[in-house]
Amino acid sequence: MPEVAVVVPTLNERGNLTALVEKVDRALIHRDYELIIVDDDSEDDTASYARQLAQSNPRIRIVQRIGRRGLSSAVVEGFLATSAPYLAVMDGDLQHDESVLPQMLAILETGQADLVVGTRNTLGGSVGSFAPHRVALSSLGRSLSRIVCKTELSDPMSGFFVIRRTVFDEVAHNLSLTGFKILVDIIASSDKPIRAGEVPYTFGERQYGESKLDTMVALEYILLLVDKLTSGWVPTTYLTFAAVGASGVLLNALLLRGLSETGLTFAVRQTIAGAVVIGCNFLLNNSVTFRLRRLRNRQRLIGFCMFFGACAVGLMLNVRLTELLNNGGLNASAAAAAGILAGSAWNYLVASLFVWRIARRAPAHREVESLQSQETADMTASLRRLDQQLKQPIGSPKPETIAHSRD
Ligand code: GDD
Ligand code: MN
Repeated sequence: MPEVAVVVPTLNERGNLTALVEKVDRALIHRDYELIIVDDDSEDDTASYARQLAQSNPRIRIVQRIGRRGLSSAVVEGFLATSAPYLAVMDGDLQHDESVLPQMLAILETGQADLVVGTRNTLGGSVGSFAPHRVALSSLGRSLSRIVCKTELSDPMSGFFVIRRTVFDEVAHNLSLTGFKILVDIIASSDKPIRAGEVPYTFGERQYGESKLDTMVALEYILLLVDKLTSGWVPTTYLTFAAVGASGVLLNALLLRGLSETGLTFAVRQTIAGAVVIGCNFLLNNSVTFRLRRLRNRQRLIGFCMFFGACAVGLMLNVRLTELLNNGGLNASAAAAAGILAGSAWNYLVASLFVWRIARRAPAHREVESLQSQETADMTASLRRLDQQLKQPIGSPKPETIAHSRD
């Protein structure tokens, strides 16, 4: 029975995996542990590679999530996939120092703490060669975390910690699962302060691949705080969607004014402005609101057509409802507000339930495997053909002919 599970969320970390497995193995040599890779269907086929490694290392387990994204939710699904009484999480890019894991576990085992965080901000710890803007962002995040967290930590932004299973289970149902900051999510979801310990370490350099943390991660963090402050009552994705919609209303007004000199009729000007606004809203929603389900290439085109259709219906709904309420005696601005809200809610429903649900990744591994084993595949194919030919009764058509007639 494993006493500790090390959960590693991965997104395109294939190049780091072999070293990671070796390092964790060396660090936890005296422990019964399992290493759970939670991969979000990485393009570089991290999951297949992990499976390959698992064939010769029974400690490795894999959770591959298809059509899902998000660091926090990946970590939580890893925690839920194990029975180990101690749950550790670390990055898959060798930036977290696995050699302090035994020290972190030892503190949990004394019973004096329920959570031990690998921290870069106390004596003995360091942010390493972290870019200055990342250090500033991290310290701003730390200050903001105090609004929602009852537990005082020197590095609440850390993605490297060990927690007692029983304590995690208590908060599991209250988590927001928004974004990158699972530790803030956990401590903010607990009604009482969590007894926490800290172990310093130096944040290492990424070996292969690139960081997935971008400017949008800051937005996700704000959304996490809003979610915590409102106890989950405000649908945070809708907030972003509505903000994009509001920027569209502004753009619409500007465009109308810009086109006023052209001599075009209002209907034509509004049609042009409306089309541009829907296009901009689509692109903004694709890269901000639904960034984790971002549509690319052909899917983006299909998604745009769907979004365009949805917005046209939304606009109709908006206008009809406004008319109806206004005729029913409601004053003009209240009726307009109700119309906008209904139209926007409709657009959001279609967008989140249909438009940004069509992304599918091509199964890259098949390509990789077929490239790797091209010779074997060729040999198998010729053997199969030979076999079929031998089985054919005399006078029946050749297998090739059958294959063609099926096309
Ligand atoms: N499954 C999954 N899904 N994994 C993800 C996702 C995702 O959407 N996004 C990122 N990851 C994985 C990466 O592959 C990596 O193993 C780990 O999560 C951290 O991502 P990085 O992109 O390397 O983040 P970072 O180095 O900029 O920041 C990390 O370290 C900081 C310091 O501890 C994160 O853990 C931060 O949360 C943390 O503050
Ligand atoms: Mn990293």
